[in-house]
Amino acid sequence: MPNPHNVQIAPAEGKLGVLIPGMGAVTTTFIAGLEAIKRGLGKPIGSLTQLGTVRLGKRTEGRSPAIKDFVPLAGLADLEVGCWDIFDDNAYEAAVKAGVLEMTLLEKLKEPLSAIQPMRAVFDQKFVKRLNGPNVMSGGSKMEYAERVMDDIRQFKQRTGVSRLTMIWCGSTEVYHEPAAVHATLKDFECGLQKDDPEISPSQIYAYAALKSGVGYANGAPHLTTDMPALLELARHMNLPVAGKDYKSGQTFLKTLIAPGLKSRLLGLHGWFSTNILGNRDGEVLDEPGSFRSKEVSKSSALEYILQGQLYPDLYRDFYHKVRIEYYPPRGDAKEGWDNIDIFGWLGYPMQIKINFLCRDSILAAPLVLDLVLFMDLAQRAGMRGIQEWLSFYFKAPMHAPELYPEHDVFIQLMKLKNTLRWMRGEDLITHLGLEYYD
Ligand SMILES: NC(=O)c1ccc[n+]([C@@H]2O[C@H](COP(=O)([O-])OP(=O)(O)OC[C@H]3O[C@@H](n4cnc5c(N)ncnc54)[C@H](O)[C@@H]3O)[C@@H](O)[C@H]2O)c1
Repeated sequence: MPNPHNVQIAPAEGKLGVLIPGMGAVTTTFIAGLEAIKRGLGKPIGSLTQLGTVRLGKRTEGRSPAIKDFVPLAGLADLEVGCWDIFDDNAYEAAVKAGVLEMTLLEKLKEPLSAIQPMRAVFDQKFVKRLNGPNVMSGGSKMEYAERVMDDIRQFKQRTGVSRLTMIWCGSTEVYHEPAAVHATLKDFECGLQKDDPEISPSQIYAYAALKSGVGYANGAPHLTTDMPALLELARHMNLPVAGKDYKSGQTFLKTLIAPGLKSRLLGLHGWFSTNILGNRDGEVLDEPGSFRSKEVSKSSALEYILQGQLYPDLYRDFYHKVRIEYYPPRGDAKEGWDNIDIFGWLGYPMQIKINFLCRDSILAAPLVLDLVLFMDLAQRAGMRGIQEWLSFYFKAPMHAPELYPEHDVFIQLMKLKNTLRWMRGEDLITHLGLEYYD
C-alpha cells in the first residue's frame, strides 16, 4: 500500500546557497563541474540526483522516473556557492593549484571561478598540523568566531539573494578526537565556546554557526563534528538535518561492494590489506599521525560491520585488516589504491583477490558533494531533522543512532536511500519479495 501519510515537502523555490568550509581539490572540482555542466561542457557522471532513476510500483508497471523528476530538487542553475579557506586564492587559482582539471577546461570557466573569493576561515593549527595560511580570523574567542561565521552567512544570503542554505564540510581532515565533557549538552558546548575550550574544533564552530542560522550541516571528512550530543541537540531543536561522515569515494566504496558479495557466498576472510599513494594536499595533511588516525578509524570500521564476525565466527571472527595511506607528491590527485584480499573457500582452501584502483580522488568526490547538497536541502524542506541515516550511501563512517549499528553495505544503503524517496512521495516501498508475480 502507498504510504498515505506522505511527507509535506516545501517547493524548491528560489536559489539554494551552498556554503563550504574548505576550498581545495574537492570543492573546486565540484564548483568547476557545476559551471562546466551548466555550459554543456561536461556531464554529471557519478551523480545519483542527476542521472539516477527510481523504480516505482510493480516491475510490470514500467514506472522508473528520474530521481530529479520524482522528488523536488534544486536545479543546478539555482546553486550559489560560498566558501571559506585559510588561503586567499580565488576558486580559479585554487583549482589551478589543485591540478585536478585540465587547464583548457579551467580557462573556459575562469570568469565564474574567479568570482568566488573565500571568506576568512576559522582555523586552529592544533587541529590541522600540516597547514597554515593567511586568510584566517584572529583576535576573538571561539564564540566570537562562531558569531562571525553567522555574520558571513547573513551577508552571503543578502548578497546572493538565496532563499535557502545548506553547509557541507570539504575542508582538511582534523586530528582525531573523541567527544569530551564539553560536547555533552548544548549548554556545555556554548559555555565551552565562551571559554575557548581546547576540545572545540574549527569544524564544530562552523557547524554550530550553521545550525544556529537555520542551516543543515553535512561532514565530508572523518573527524568529530556533529556526531556528538551537543550539536545533535541543536539540530533537533532547530529542526535541521545533519549527515556524515567522510565521503565514500574510492577504496572504501569498492570495499563496501566487494565485502557484501563475499559474505553473500559465505566465503571466509583471513585478511584485507589496503594501501594508497596520494600526492595532493589532502595526502599531505593525512601524512600527519593525528589526521591519519581520523581517516584510519573511518576507513576501518566498514568490514567489521558488513561481515558480522559475531554471527559468522568460522568465516570472519579473526580477519586482519590494515589500512595505509602514503603521501607521494608525484601522483597529485591521481590516487592509486591497492587491496590484497586473502579469502578462503570450501574446506578452508585459500585464494587471493588483488585490486589496483587507479582513481582520481576529487573526480569521484565531486558528484557526492552535489548529491549531498541537493538531498540535504530536500531533507530540510521535508522537515527531516537530526541524523539522516538514508544518506549513509555517501559516507565511509555513516552517522547513526547510538543504539543502532551503522549500515555499510552499499547496496542496502542505496535501497534505504531510494525507499526513503518513495516514502517521502507516498509510493510503495520496494522489498524485492516478488512472490506477488507468481500467485
Ligand atoms: N577526495 C576524496 O575522494 C575524499 C574522500 C573522502 C573524504 N575527503 C575529505 O574531503 C576533504 C577535502 O579534500 P580535498 O582533497 O579537497 O583536500 P584539500 O587539501 O585539497 O582541500 C582542503 C581545503 O581545506 C582548507 N582548510 C583547512 N582547514 C580549514 C578551515 N578550518 N576552514 C576553512 N578551510 C580550511 C585547506 O586550506 C584546503 O584548501 C578532506 O578532509 C578529505 O579527507 C575527500
